[in-house]
Amino acid sequence: MINDAYTSTNPARLDDVVTTVTPVDEAAIVAAARRAKAAQPAWADVPAPVRGQVIANISRLVEANAEALARLVTREIGKPTAEARGEVQEIVDTCQFFLGEGRRLYGQTVPSEMPDKQLFTFRTPVGAAMIITAGNFPVAVPSWYLVPALLCGNTVVWKPALYAAACADALAELFVRGGLPEGVLTVVHADGPETFAGLGSALEDGLIDKVGFTGSTEVGRAIGELCGRYLQTPCLELGGKNPMVVTEDADLTLAVEGALFSGFGTAGQRCTSLGTVIVHESVHDEFLVRFTEAVAAARIGDPTEDVLYGPLLDEKFAAAYEKHLGWIAPHHRVSGPTGRITAESPRAGFVGDPATGLFYHPVIVAGVRPGDELFQQETFGPIVGVTAYRTLGEAIELANAPGYGLSSSIYTTDPTKAFTFRRKISAGMVSVNNSTSGAEAHLPFGGNGRSGNGSRQSGMWVLDQFTRWQAMNWDYSGRLQKAQMEVAVLPADLSFRL
Ligand code: UN1
Repeated sequence: MINDAYTSTNPARLDDVVTTVTPVDEAAIVAAARRAKAAQPAWADVPAPVRGQVIANISRLVEANAEALARLVTREIGKPTAEARGEVQEIVDTCQFFLGEGRRLYGQTVPSEMPDKQLFTFRTPVGAAMIITAGNFPVAVPSWYLVPALLCGNTVVWKPALYAAACADALAELFVRGGLPEGVLTVVHADGPETFAGLGSALEDGLIDKVGFTGSTEVGRAIGELCGRYLQTPCLELGGKNPMVVTEDADLTLAVEGALFSGFGTAGQRCTSLGTVIVHESVHDEFLVRFTEAVAAARIGDPTEDVLYGPLLDEKFAAAYEKHLGWIAPHHRVSGPTGRITAESPRAGFVGDPATGLFYHPVIVAGVRPGDELFQQETFGPIVGVTAYRTLGEAIELANAPGYGLSSSIYTTDPTKAFTFRRKISAGMVSVNNSTSGAEAHLPFGGNGRSGNGSRQSGMWVLDQFTRWQAMNWDYSGRLQKAQMEVAVLPADLSFRL
């Protein structure tokens, strides 16, 4: 693909070319990393409150350009307008959180065990970071990395998804206009193999100190292995098979609303999208009927209109999703037509003309069970499994069975069940009476197991990704005081009893 132009098209109107970029090769990625590494010390020398001011500028610029950026998101990846606006707001929220961090980035002053000596901790930037992102959140999720990384004094090479290249260029332009000096943020457009090769060489040459990756478990595993060779811990935000447990005492109306939004919103293409609804056997059939009705009534189609979801992100995702539809087995009960919405396979109430883009039927698959691929694997499309359970212990076992661990949800009116679920679920994020998607931008975001290596983004927790703690001690006693060996001991009467 190198040197062949890549065309990013509107997935809702495939004849609409959004941008054309020329992907670069391994050597160009290494060169970008070298520039980032060279620019990093000067950026780290800029006082943190001044770096915070740049983040404040970026926030204002994103707000001032919010509508244009949201429109671009809708056009390039097909996210409905309301969600695209929310996505842009998530960048602003992230900037708002971190612009003040420039005036904190707190370290501690710590008492020493000896007189005339003081201990301190400092947060120091990690260095040059390579951030590799997916295109389902083409601007919000990148900002979760870029904003804190830059604020903390790191420089960044950002490799966005090719199918979201225009969104990436627009966001990067807003960042640079906000006052980032030359070389502090560089965007490289490249395909997966060249990126991996470039990252490997850049790590080998000591040019990259931190990697952030949002994408598939498979690629995340390869990046983790690669970084491990250089004793680095990447920040990995991978897939999910996010469960929703609906207990016998749940508010079913609320649960159906949550399942509809998190299962089919964004056409099921969030890492936090609902995978399987695990419903108590006593309410399973009623839930299924109501859920099926809600899905049948949902508006699907042109993402510039008021719809639940639009097209899939691009051809590659559509092809992968079609493969996942092949996991539907004879023992499953399927809600209606599956696959592409076409003149031959129409959808009642479709908004617009399905022939213009990558539009797919919403699918509910009842009767999924742990032996099924559909139960175990992320599907990244508008398909949700449903299964029944008897005891809460069994529900939790089913919820944990696929081995991911990103988001999870329980609908219940019983606090005991809610807290038992919280304790036993393997996920990094737990919703109670709320859907699996839609995390707020200042809580720790991240997963365990197949969903990640335990790294967390967002809020103050992400600071530990982009800084390292440095411990300092300063002895001003004028002599060598030996820790542990020359510590004062005060007399005590430990044989005393009341
Ligand atoms: C993702 O799909 O990579 O919690 C992130 C959510 C969004 C982020 C999803 N705020 O659903």
